Amino acid sequence: MSGQPFFLMTDASAFDVRYKINPWMDPRGWTPADAAAARGASKTLRSALENAGARVEVLGAVNGLPDLVFPANAAVVLDDTVLLARFRHPERQGEEAVFRAAFQSLKTRGLVREIVDLPDGLFHEGAGDAIWDADRGHFWCGYGPRSSQGAIRVIRRTFDRPIVALELVSDRFYHLDTCFCPLAGGKLLYYPAAFTAEAQATIRDLVPEAQRIEATPEEAAAFCVNAVNLGRQVIMARAPNSLRTRLEANGYSLTEVDLDPFILSGGASYCMTLRLDRVSAPAPQAAE
Ligand code: ARG
Repeated sequence: MSGQPFFLMTDASAFDVRYKINPWMDPRGWTPADAAAARGASKTLRSALENAGARVEVLGAVNGLPDLVFPANAAVVLDDTVLLARFRHPERQGEEAVFRAAFQSLKTRGLVREIVDLPDGLFHEGAGDAIWDADRGHFWCGYGPRSSQGAIRVIRRTFDRPIVALELVSDRFYHLDTCFCPLAGGKLLYYPAAFTAEAQATIRDLVPEAQRIEATPEEAAAFCVNAVNLGRQVIMARAPNSLRTRLEANGYSLTEVDLDPFILSGGASYCMTLRLDRVSAPAPQAAE
């Protein structure tokens, strides 16, 4: 690959909130105005990624599968290998065949090399619960609300890379990507209250205090931890000033996109994307 960041997104024209599988979702509150705003917001996010130098592939919408707009949950992708997800909730299981076909077509085009299935009986919701930390050279894997703990050994076997497992406790921060975001250069933006005491201790052991940026409840509820990071740039939902100031003081520059319609479904910029070009070897200096 060229070293250009490469993301999958999904067209938002079939997005809505029609069921409730997390506390953010309220089907009764969803309006046609939200649907129109969502289509615009998805395009704005795509432009923000492209302006940051990324290439974006857009998967077509499928009526009846509103959460297809969150391709982070489709698979774990590293070193051109794709471990397909299995969704915990029946409401999202129809996405599995659509994402499988999408990856098969990426494979035909030579854009991924291998597609792997999860064994029966396990759930795993993709890059939402398996975040590659390029600086530390390992996955951080979340489990509990959505992904099975048992899926972690499958990730280890599939990718042959080290893994640090973190148990999630909050029904509001049900995927690791809602509360945990490693940033280029080794800093970590995260929301401690989403984790068990043991997982919090693991994070503190592995990430020195000077590298930890702890989100407040307000910042986490604004879905700002669910961010896309490209080098020094961080692309996220509208951020409270408190967070903007802290990230800038740490040398990062923020691009904010109004993703309110997607927050009504419990997601924002990271989970609206799936990075396809990640490699486990350290990237060449010019890559991002
Ligand atoms: N409504 C979706 C769900 O509950 C939102 C998924 C957001 N994805 C994420 N990786 N945080 O499954």
